[in-house]
Order: sequence, then C-alpha cells, then structure tokens
Amino acid sequence: MTQVSYKDLGLVNTKEMFKKAMDGKYAIPAYNFNNLEQLQAIVNGCVESNSPFILQVSSGARKYANQTLLRYLAEGAVELIKSMNSNVKFALHLDHGDTFELCKSCIDSGFSSVMIDGSHHSYEENIRLTKQVVEYAHEHGVTVEGELGVLAGIEDDVVAAESVYTHPDQVEDFVKRTGVDSLAISIGTSHGANKFKPEQCSKNADGVLVPPPLRFDILEEIEKRIPGFPIVLHGASSVLPEYVKMINENGGKLDDAVGIPEEQLRRAASSAVCKINIDSDGRLAMTGMIRKVFNNNPAEFDPRKYLGPARDALAQMIVHKNKNVLGSAGKA
Ligand code: G3H
Ligand code: 13P
Ligand code: ZN
Repeated sequence: MTQVSYKDLGLVNTKEMFKKAMDGKYAIPAYNFNNLEQLQAIVNGCVESNSPFILQVSSGARKYANQTLLRYLAEGAVELIKSMNSNVKFALHLDHGDTFELCKSCIDSGFSSVMIDGSHHSYEENIRLTKQVVEYAHEHGVTVEGELGVLAGIEDDVVAAESVYTHPDQVEDFVKRTGVDSLAISIGTSHGANKFKPEQCSKNADGVLVPPPLRFDILEEIEKRIPGFPIVLHGASSVLPEYVKMINENGGKLDDAVGIPEEQLRRAASSAVCKINIDSDGRLAMTGMIRKVFNNNPAEFDPRKYLGPARDALAQMIVHKNKNVLGSAGKA
C-alpha cells in the first residue's frame, strides 16, 4: 500500500478529542472492527448518537480481514458518514500494537493513532520501545497510546494470568520519558467476557455475581501524578446480561460471564479516563442476535438475514453506551 497521511483521508488524531472529553467529563468510545457489518454498526450507532469515536483495529483483525481491505473499509467509513450528512469525526487506531514495525506500517497506511503495548516488557524496555514509536508517529502527526501495568486475561498474543495494577509512582516518569499522548492503565479491568473468576465475586440477592470494584484509589493517585493527562481503560465491556441470556437461551453456553458494571464506567468516564475500549460487548450482542435468528428460523441461510439483525443489535448497543455510559453522545 502506498504511503498516505491520515489527514488526506479526512481522519483526525485523538489530541482534540481527548482534550474535549477531559474538559467535558466524558470518554470517547473505542470500538473494534473486523468486518463490514461491525463497521456499519459502529458508524450507524455513532452517527445516530452524534458521538465522536475511535475505530480500532487489532493485529488479529488485520490478519482476519486482510490489512489492506480493512484500511480501505475504514476510508470508506469517512465517505459513509458524509453521505449521512453527519459531522461525526473518528480516529483510526491500532489496538495493542506490539512492535515498532507494526505501528509504522499502520502510520504509513493512514492510521491517525496507534497503541504500542510494551506492558509485558521490562519497564526500561517498555520506555525504549514506546519512545521509538512516539518519535516516528509524531513526525507524522499521529498520536500514541502507551500502557503501564498488565491486565489479567489475554491481550492479543500477550497472555497475562494475573493483573498487575499500574504503579502510580511510575506514570510521571513514563509519560515524560516516552512523550506518549495517552496512557492505558490497569485498575481491575480485563479483556473478554469472563473478567472475574466466580470466587473473586460476591452474589447479590438474586444470586447474580457481583465483581470486585475497580481500583478508583489507584486511578485517583495516577491523576494526582499526571494532572489533566488522558487515561485509557481497556477491557471495559460490561458483559450485558441481556445478551448473555440471549446467547444461553438460544443454544449457547456462556458460564460465569461477568463484566465491569456500567455505573463504574460512568464514574471513570467523568474522571481523567478519556478513552474506553469496548469489543466483547459487541461480540456478545451480535452473537446473541445471530443465535436467536437461527433458533427461530433453522432453515435460514441468507447471511443478510442474520448479519443484518446482528448489525442492528450492535448499533443499538453502541447508542446505549454513548448515551448512557460514556457520555459522548451529542459531542461530535
Ligand atoms: O483487546 C483485544 C481486543 O478485544 C481485540 O481482540 O485480538 O481478538 O482482535 P482480538
Ligand atoms: P473488552 O474485551 O472488555 O471488550 O475489551 C476490549 C479492549 O480492551 C480492546 O483493546
Ligand atoms: Zn485492550
């Protein structure tokens, strides 16, 4: 793919978005996409709720859908938004980049933002790698997200069994020495639909698992060390019970699926947390709807008849998140 700047594609980086989100006490939603239907749903949901957004691509998504095709799809989303007479702006972001070369490849193909996830390296190696990406990215006006602390669960190819909370003592030094534009931290979130083991949870009166609260004390400490600096939460799906139920009632089997309660995300969004990553909730919404369509219509075999409703379910879920959880609705 020939080298192209995101500016020529009509994309924006995250700088202005995060400044407005910080001042306005809301968070920008970051949704992952791997295919056409997810992209349409993200655009439809964010245009309907008039919300800025971050369109995220993981290295797994690039492998699955073909990196060139995926990038052109993202470019197509700019035109799609214009055709809907909307002014919604979005950043095209690499999620969990793990090498300089991967970040460079995305920057060169028109991404406006990249994450370099050096959290599994030693502190000094994380700084070296992140700084290397920042230097190249900033030459091209691209913003960079770094990470300190390790989330429990699976971060792409990086497997972390236990969560290691971010040490507030390190954040100021890390931000200064790397020059990153935002920082992903670990305060108790994790990736996937099973964020907590049942034994880590309590049970409410209805027998529903209640996860341990996020470590807002660590977040507050971090905010004191780097005031006004944009913080990112990964692994922030809520694992909405309605979709888990839809999956389980229609032939699926999701046991002990527990996410981050939405009121905790609302609280985070009104703090220095400027970006909240949501992927699993979208997967659950789409899967729930596809299972329901197949269960109700076992003879159905036209992909549009199950991918269409799945796309609508995802768009609806996105409108809900933007309006009721992140507070980004109406901020485009
Ligand atoms: O944090 C990971 C994202 O949910 C992307 O997942 O690597 O399976 O595409 P993936
Ligand atoms: P969830 O698995 O909680 O949706 O997190 C997604 C994420 O952090 C993408 O980077
Ligand atoms: Zn993540």
